[in-house]
Amino acid sequence: MTGSALLPRSSGDVARREFARDVLAGLAGQCKAIPSKYLYDEHGSALFERICETPEYYVTRVETGILRDCAPEVAASAGPSCSVIEFGSGAATKTEILLDALATPSAYVCVDVCVEQLAASRARLAKRFPALPITAIAADYMRLEESSLPVFPGGRLGFFPGSTIGNLTPDEVQRFLATTRRVLGHGGMLLIGVDTVKDEAVLNAAYNDAAGVTAAFTINLLRRMNRELDGSFDPDRFRHVAFYNAELQRIEIFVESLIDQVVRVAGRAFTLRAGERIRTEYSYKYRPEQFVATAATVGYAAVGSWMDADELFCVHLLAGV
Ligand SMILES: C[S@@+](CC[C@H](N)C(=O)[O-])C[C@H]1O[C@@H](n2cnc3c(N)ncnc32)[C@H](O)[C@@H]1O
Repeated sequence: MTGSALLPRSSGDVARREFARDVLAGLAGQCKAIPSKYLYDEHGSALFERICETPEYYVTRVETGILRDCAPEVAASAGPSCSVIEFGSGAATKTEILLDALATPSAYVCVDVCVEQLAASRARLAKRFPALPITAIAADYMRLEESSLPVFPGGRLGFFPGSTIGNLTPDEVQRFLATTRRVLGHGGMLLIGVDTVKDEAVLNAAYNDAAGVTAAFTINLLRRMNRELDGSFDPDRFRHVAFYNAELQRIEIFVESLIDQVVRVAGRAFTLRAGERIRTEYSYKYRPEQFVATAATVGYAAVGSWMDADELFCVHLLAGV
């Protein structure tokens, strides 16, 4: 395959029905929650890019520095001509570091739920790497099958930066890693960025930036439900709440109702009490050895692990054993 292609995996109607189904199920429970992937509509993705630039959100800056340092070693382990499959690619800015280091990558495949972001990243990378076959797949990375991916010469190197693994619960992490083992095939490797356990003040600041960009990102989910699911959420009647739960090693993020109210969405009404929360996101943190042990349970061994001097972030290169 040459050139670049954008492959939608489901029509807009199917995607909207799934969104409605997930929201109704998530609001019906005792502990209300909406899957974090719905934070990333076009505006949510743009807000996430702005989060990456806030002084408090160290993740992007630190991971980029680590990738610059370790990319030659990664390229030596993966081989210069593998194809790169990126899960949750977003703006795909770190991708360029990896593709530059690989010298002659056979192809780049990006997978993301945000179609607009995928199209923009694909267009930018096609300009930057004109000879590289690029395929963008609009899909949920939890549901990929081996047949979802185009076949290119050489082995497959999975890429999952940005601490996106932190959004998954421990069960989902097992499922995601097992899925990547399957879709990356024999000899496949996975380069993954994992946020570390650290000083709570640093973590709490990262998800409560002073400029309020993370709060806007959380509240944008209400606007998305209003637009796409005929919702009646008044964003001024909610606030963003984010804090570190040390026992469970995770940041928990919610929209919190400021008053007793009834909201309508996707044809149903829900009562919210003042102070009641809807969870929108987790961000789990791992000690490097904890993550390596988790990966081992699905048959991955760490070929290399790299951290910054302050141990704020860790990048692991995993290989199937
Ligand atoms: C934390 S951002 C990371 C973006 C980018 N990889 C980075 O390192 O900055 C998570 C990205 O994963 C995408 N995403 C979230 N859940 C997803 C899912 N279930 N399937 C596919 N993409 C998903 C979002 O649209 C977003 O682009």
